[in-house]
Amino acid sequence: MPGLGGFGAGVGKLPGVPSVLPELQALALRVDERLDALLPAPDRRPSNLHQAMRYSCLAPGKRLRPGLCLASAAAVGGRESDAMDAACALEMLHCFSLIHDDLPAIDDDHLRRGRPTCHIVYGEAIAVLAGDALFALALEVLATMEASPEVRVRALQILTRAAGSDGLVGGEVVDVEAEGSEPDADTLHYIHTRKTGALMAASCEIGALVGGGSPEQVAALGRFGLDLGLAFQIADDLLNELGSEDQLGKAAGSDRARGKATYPALYGVERSREMARQTVDDAIRELGTVRDTGLLRGLAEFSIERVA
Ligand code: IPE
Ligand code: IPE
Ligand code: MG
Ligand code: MG
Repeated sequence: MPGLGGFGAGVGKLPGVPSVLPELQALALRVDERLDALLPAPDRRPSNLHQAMRYSCLAPGKRLRPGLCLASAAAVGGRESDAMDAACALEMLHCFSLIHDDLPAIDDDHLRRGRPTCHIVYGEAIAVLAGDALFALALEVLATMEASPEVRVRALQILTRAAGSDGLVGGEVVDVEAEGSEPDADTLHYIHTRKTGALMAASCEIGALVGGGSPEQVAALGRFGLDLGLAFQIADDLLNELGSEDQLGKAAGSDRARGKATYPALYGVERSREMARQTVDDAIRELGTVRDTGLLRGLAEFSIERVA
């Protein structure tokens, strides 16, 4: 994808920490293979809806939420096959959020993952509905994955709570409402932990759950994911402020232009970098009770080292 794998001023790179990018890219290939099978065929009626779902969901993103889900399952001793459908459900839910976030009523963006946004290609009505259908499909995949009924219901609870009005959607609402006003620290923390942190936390919790982790491990990985998600979003604010459209595959400079509530707007670039770094360190401290292979730690570092 544009910018990925390149070099650049990462937000908080630690010398000597190996990049997890090749491992994430290898996971992403297997995730995409399964997503391709789970998404409705492009010629199935209504074909424009199904094509729009596939256009956005199979577009070249980082697949970080599936990566977190699979890495969390592995960290508690689970197999990749136990977690693959859940990983795909998380990417579908994420993709719904991207399609709706880009709509004229929200961020009004024209570029995503290096391509024209869903509503630019398919029109607003189909984009809204493709997002809705991806949300529904994510739930269907969790409800029907190979796991015990208890695990499936618990996974659905975790995902729906993370997605709803106290999670991603709530964060998006406060993000939109805060546009153009002076951000305050509490509101900013609320927005970033909800719009981005909640789904990252759910990705780790669900991965640990389907991997057979104990309730303590599931909870610890949830805290890890929440911190990682906050750091990821601080880094995203910095990339929007400092990066270019070519590098990011999406708009740059748009947060400042729209008066978005961001960490650099409130704290400045240097302090935001430090806060992202500290938040990753907080995340890594939560890994005490799991047998991390290095992948979770690597994904935490990647969330602030990345250049796209
Ligand atoms: C974009 O998420 C939305 C944010 C939470 C900042 P990603 O940066 O993970 O997007 P993709 O999936 O790689 O396109
Ligand atoms: C990130 O929103 C969170 C969601 C999409 C739910 P942003 O608006 O900050 O992220 P980009 O810059 O569009 O990816
Ligand atoms: Mg937004
Ligand atoms: Mg946006």
